[in-house]
Amino acid sequence: MNKIPVGPKLYVYPLPTFLVGANVANKPNFMAVAWGGVANSEPPMLSVAIRHHRHTYLGIKHNLTFSVNIPSTNLVKEMDYCGIVSGSQVDKSATCNFKIFYGKLKTAPLIEQCPVNLECKVIHLLNLGTHTLVIGQIEETYVSEDCLSDGKPDINKIMPITADIQAHNYHSQGDFIGKAFSIGKNLQ
Ligand SMILES: Cc1cc2nc3c(=O)[nH]c(=O)nc-3n(C[C@H](O)[C@H](O)[C@H](O)COP(=O)(O)O)c2cc1C
Repeated sequence: MNKIPVGPKLYVYPLPTFLVGANVANKPNFMAVAWGGVANSEPPMLSVAIRHHRHTYLGIKHNLTFSVNIPSTNLVKEMDYCGIVSGSQVDKSATCNFKIFYGKLKTAPLIEQCPVNLECKVIHLLNLGTHTLVIGQIEETYVSEDCLSDGKPDINKIMPITADIQAHNYHSQGDFIGKAFSIGKNLQ
C-alpha cells in the first residue's frame, strides 16, 4: 500500500457537531463546535476547543458554565448558522427560534429542540495556541423523551449530524455494522 505523507493535519473522521451555549452579558448565545468529545468517565467530563475570541467564550470564562446541545439533522441549517455568524452581531437564538431552558446550573442555556443537552461546569481552561481547550464536568443531562428507546438514548431517533470539516460537508447517521465490545470476539 502506498501511503502519502501529507504533513501534520487534523484529519479526524468523523467529527461531532455540537451547539455550545453560554450566557454572554446575561443573554443566551450558541456557537457550532466540531472540535469536541468525551474527556473522562468518572466524573463525566467532556472537552470543547474554542478560539479565544469567540463571543461564546466570553460567557464561558465569566460564568464558568456552558452547555453542549446535540442537534438533529433537522437543525442542520441552524447549527451551521450558529457557526458562521457571531453573537456579538446578532441574536442567534431569536433567528433560530430556539426555545431556551435552564437547568441546575442556571447560567448554561439549553436548547429544547436539541434531543440531548448537557450542562457543564468548567474544570480546566487550557490555552493550547489558537484554541482554549475547555474541560467541562457534566452536571446534568437531559434527553427528549421521544428520543429514548427502553429508557436509553436511541441514536436513530437522536439523528446526530457529523461533519467532514476538511470537505465542508455534513452527514447524517450511518448504517449499523456490528455490536460494540462483541463483534471483535469473532477473531479470538
Ligand atoms: C461545523 C462547524 C464547527 C465549528 N467548530 C468550531 C470549534 O470547534 N471551535 C471554534 O472555536 N469554532 C468553531 N466553529 C466556528 C464558530 O462556531 C463560529 O466562529 C461562530 O460564529 C462563533 O460564534 P460566537 O462568536 O457567537 O461565539 C465551527 C463552525 C462550524 C460551522
